[in-house]
Amino acid sequence: MRWGWLLVLWTLAQCAWAETAAQIQAMQRQAIAERKAQVLAMQKLGSALFHDPSLSGSKAISCSSCHQQRLAFSSPVALMPGGKKLQQIGDRAVPSLTYTQNIPAFTEHFFEDDGNDSIDNGATGGLTWDGRVDRAKDQALIPLFAHNEMAAGNIDTLAAAIKAAPYWPQFLAIFSQTRLASNNAIVKRATESLAAFLHSPIFYPYSSKFDAVEAGKAQFTAQEKRGLALFNDPKKGNCASCHFSSHDATGAPPKFTDYGMIALGLPRNMAISKNQNPNYYDLGLCGPMRKDFTHQARYCGLFRAPSLRNVALQTHFFHNGVITNLHDAIAFYATRDTNPGRWYPKGPDGKVEKFNDLPKKYWKNINMDPPFGGKPGDKPALNEQEIEDIEAFLGTLTDGYQP
Ligand code: HEC
Ligand code: HEC
Repeated sequence: MRWGWLLVLWTLAQCAWAETAAQIQAMQRQAIAERKAQVLAMQKLGSALFHDPSLSGSKAISCSSCHQQRLAFSSPVALMPGGKKLQQIGDRAVPSLTYTQNIPAFTEHFFEDDGNDSIDNGATGGLTWDGRVDRAKDQALIPLFAHNEMAAGNIDTLAAAIKAAPYWPQFLAIFSQTRLASNNAIVKRATESLAAFLHSPIFYPYSSKFDAVEAGKAQFTAQEKRGLALFNDPKKGNCASCHFSSHDATGAPPKFTDYGMIALGLPRNMAISKNQNPNYYDLGLCGPMRKDFTHQARYCGLFRAPSLRNVALQTHFFHNGVITNLHDAIAFYATRDTNPGRWYPKGPDGKVEKFNDLPKKYWKNINMDPPFGGKPGDKPALNEQEIEDIEAFLGTLTDGYQP
């Protein structure tokens, strides 16, 4: 009899518990749904901000002027005009914004997540070419206020522009009063919304021919296949040593970058206004735009390896945009050392001025791994046909492939 009562009590407790558990689950589901709805609303708001020229000092450019969707969110020319009167051109090439949500925070010592954490891959990650900001919401503040980009003025003028915009009611609907209590808070919510937009799926669709082949839904042409083999071959292109081409330890599809900071010794781009001053050098990781490593000689000339997804949509390549077609971007790797006269200007003495965008004391930082290396007149690591094959393969990394 005593046991019978206990059984009844136990069953009742179970029912009550099941009911509470179901309630908790329902509450959790609702919280997730609400959070999802808020993220979607923020992405929509972020898109409106991204396309709004009224935020700029000139009232003529928006993020989307420099980051155009049809060009994988890159620009039609490397150095874009900005500033209050749109009379200043940029100091660096506009990068594509696809797949940037995967860029890890900057660190000086990067260990790959592959179970082998003994290899220090050195300086890695961070947004912008020199990795000087970690989060998209902080990144957005740079172009908004840069005098040669959107030149929005200050926090107050920017907040006033936001309040006057047609999407201001969306701010009020998404965020509570307290989260919009000051101009500072309004600008913060705006940059968070921009970041939410930059992390929305249109920036990482994984819809290229490469992805279709991986999924068994398409096949490479013979040339694309040769290009991939050359891209991966450590003795030929060796591209995959930095632009990873296989799935990572988590099984995620490759982003075609290891996010590492490397000096390639690119030619100087004289179209950059600051480069008219022979004493000015954009040294990437060691400054002058980045301020925290200005005395670290070993970091001078290093820039972050970008993703090569959608690279065929770009009109310019590398941090200074000095190279303006993809064929040449690949040929540069193959012939930088075997035919430097093709890339660097001649000095008054008729000699080729190799590595003319980096003071000589930093040349030891320049990468010499294959396909670099050799001396003038040597056979390059890749011939013209092989460069074309790699170019054909890179074409398969463009999103929006229709079989
Ligand atoms: C005038 C042209 C211009 C405008 C306008 C502009 N950008 Fe950029 N963007 C650039 C350039 C140039 C860089 C590279 C900066 C660097 O390396 O210092 C860049 C870099 C970035 C990056 C880092 C990408 C990477 O690979 O690290 C993000 C994110 C970004 N911009 C977002 C935005 C947002 C959001 C806006 C609008 C608030 C915006 N940009 C407006 C030119 C522009
Ligand atoms: C040692 C590492 C390394 C190797 C090997 C390497 N790259 Fe790169 N790649 C980089 C870095 C770093 C950058 C950016 C450098 C800069 O702008 O100063 C870059 C930039 C590029 C760009 C310009 C992309 C853009 O958005 O502007 C292209 C194209 C490219 N690499 C293709 C290749 C190909 C093709 C190969 C093989 C032939 C290759 N890379 C081998 C590190 C590497």
